[in-house]
Amino acid sequence: MRKKIVAGNWKMNNNLEQTEALLSELSAKLPDTHAEVVVAPTFVNLTTAQRNLQSSAIKVAAQNMHFAESGAYTGEISADMLMNIHVDTVILGHSERRAYFGEDDALLSKKVQAALEKDMTIIFCFGEELEERKSGNHFSVVESQLKNALFDLDATAWKNIVLAYEPVWAIGTGETASPEQAQEMHAFIRKTITDSYGADISDEVSILYGGSVKPGNAGDIFGKPDVDGGLIGGASLKADDFIAIIKAI
Ligand code: G3P
Repeated sequence: MRKKIVAGNWKMNNNLEQTEALLSELSAKLPDTHAEVVVAPTFVNLTTAQRNLQSSAIKVAAQNMHFAESGAYTGEISADMLMNIHVDTVILGHSERRAYFGEDDALLSKKVQAALEKDMTIIFCFGEELEERKSGNHFSVVESQLKNALFDLDATAWKNIVLAYEPVWAIGTGETASPEQAQEMHAFIRKTITDSYGADISDEVSILYGGSVKPGNAGDIFGKPDVDGGLIGGASLKADDFIAIIKAI
């Protein structure tokens, strides 16, 4: 049975005090849930998050990493460094990193390989732009993003992969994909994996939806058969909203 996951991508938000306050509130209010709950603070607060959540069921993820083991990469963080502070989950391929930092499929493939070498769990993000959906190219765009970065993996590597379909036009806009749109794309993604790796693999891959998930729409989206949870941005910064979304799965 594939995992249900609710992950909060905090992006570039929360200083040390705000991080501690939010984590304390989330820990106190966390409901009993069958879902895996993850938060992704900024790099500078990962150690604090790990320490503050030691006795919590909430997992900690990084928002990015470099593909190199170490070296002359000013400002970067390696998989080793994350594992060294017991952060074994990393978000890769977020549309903001693709758009603002030029991360393409080839670079992301190297990052995925580096994370897998350390047996990390990868929350791999992808999704189409509005123009690509309007022109009817959204399925081919998503297929190529997946295949270019992930389809050279061995079947066994997929146990470390969580997918996050995030239509770019829904991120931070309040324009959430409808539950039907999410299900249609998630079913396409799962079939794409099935066609290359078989149903034994595709049935076990958790596919999250991201893009303006809020307490008011989470239940309908999470209720779709191929939606296994959400990658939450803005709403993950408010404890009560994030808790309400967790309760919806
Ligand atoms: O990674 C999740 C994020 O991109 C979604 O952001 O604010 O639309 O929930 P938001």
